[in-house]
Amino acid sequence: MASAPDFSQGLKLNQMTGSKAETTENLLKDIGNLRGKVILITGGASGLGKAFCLEAGKHGAKLVIGDLNEEGARSVADQIKKEGGEAVSGRCDVTDFKSQVQLFNLARKTYKHIDVCIPCAGLGEVDQLENELKKGADGEYEEPRMLQLKVNLIGVMYSVQLGLSHLKQNPSKDKAIVLIASIAGYMGLPMGSIYCAAKHGVMGLFKSLPPQAAVENIRVSVIAPFFVDTPILTYATKILLKDLPLAKIEDVVSSLLCTASSPSAAGRSYIIDPSGVYSSPWNATVEETNNVYHAIALRAEAILGVMGTFRSLDRALSPIGGIKAGLVAAIAIPAVMYFR
Ligand SMILES: NC(=O)c1ccc[n+]([C@@H]2O[C@H](COP(=O)([O-])OP(=O)(O)OC[C@H]3O[C@@H](n4cnc5c(N)ncnc54)[C@H](O)[C@@H]3O)[C@@H](O)[C@H]2O)c1
Repeated sequence: MASAPDFSQGLKLNQMTGSKAETTENLLKDIGNLRGKVILITGGASGLGKAFCLEAGKHGAKLVIGDLNEEGARSVADQIKKEGGEAVSGRCDVTDFKSQVQLFNLARKTYKHIDVCIPCAGLGEVDQLENELKKGADGEYEEPRMLQLKVNLIGVMYSVQLGLSHLKQNPSKDKAIVLIASIAGYMGLPMGSIYCAAKHGVMGLFKSLPPQAAVENIRVSVIAPFFVDTPILTYATKILLKDLPLAKIEDVVSSLLCTASSPSAAGRSYIIDPSGVYSSPWNATVEETNNVYHAIALRAEAILGVMGTFRSLDRALSPIGGIKAGLVAAIAIPAVMYFR
């Protein structure tokens, strides 16, 4: 039987091989490099992307903001301009390659070149992989939608391919691709299999790309935040995280500003947890510790255990109509959280 998680010791990410704690001052030491830099970012209408755009705009960067939420992206661009900065925005669906081509074209048409590419658009939703497949009218299983994989991995790969092609045409020696993984790129996330698979894919990109991109004077970095309070967190995730400390949005923004501005960020991963920011080399691994990640895994296992019991009951009761899956989740999740 596993012992209770010890939160007093923080998340212990500083136990990652070769990692070092980063101060805000150190993260922002090259912030002056941002002046005049053209930064293309997807998912800039909300959360982490929005917070970064507003801050980068204040430091003189020129932002090109693409998002499915066209109105939200325009409002961020308007706010940057109101504060004296430069920005343009456009509707972009990252899962549609042509839509991304148009966003990159908008950047080139407006600012001639691109210096930094940040594929930040992301999607979190209740994991379809946990549910039984639906059957169509023909009685066969329907194709699962896998939208999280398309947004969080395929969309990122489209941005990286376009980013490499456009950045290569810029003769500057100070160019960057900044990937957004997650702590789910380093470890498993029960009940979040598709999101986790996508973020592991992003980490695979990060571990492979730096030498190849360096040939074109493009540095590649990744940021990997623990949970941050933004609209991406589903109701179920918020329940799962009850009473656990979250990472701070200002630490994520400082890490993004660092990766966009500093040559020292080349080939490094910036892990943001509630106790601060730790940067690590590409091959760092998380040591198994009895910490908050362990707590989340235990909670998820308990919820899945209760849901499994209800599912067996549902099958047994199916001759008389069974019980609704939604009702099961509505009872099981709060019940487990209350007793843990
Ligand atoms: N908030 C967290 O806890 C957390 C932790 C680790 C990593 N991340 C990652 O950070 C990134 C930003 O997340 P956030 O927390 O700011 O979430 P958010 O929901 O606030 O913002 C995500 C943005 O992506 C946009 N988007 C979604 N699908 C899109 C599509 N198909 N095309 C274009 N835009 C699309 C949304 O409209 C939204 O503006 C994501 O990649 C996410 O996986 C977030």
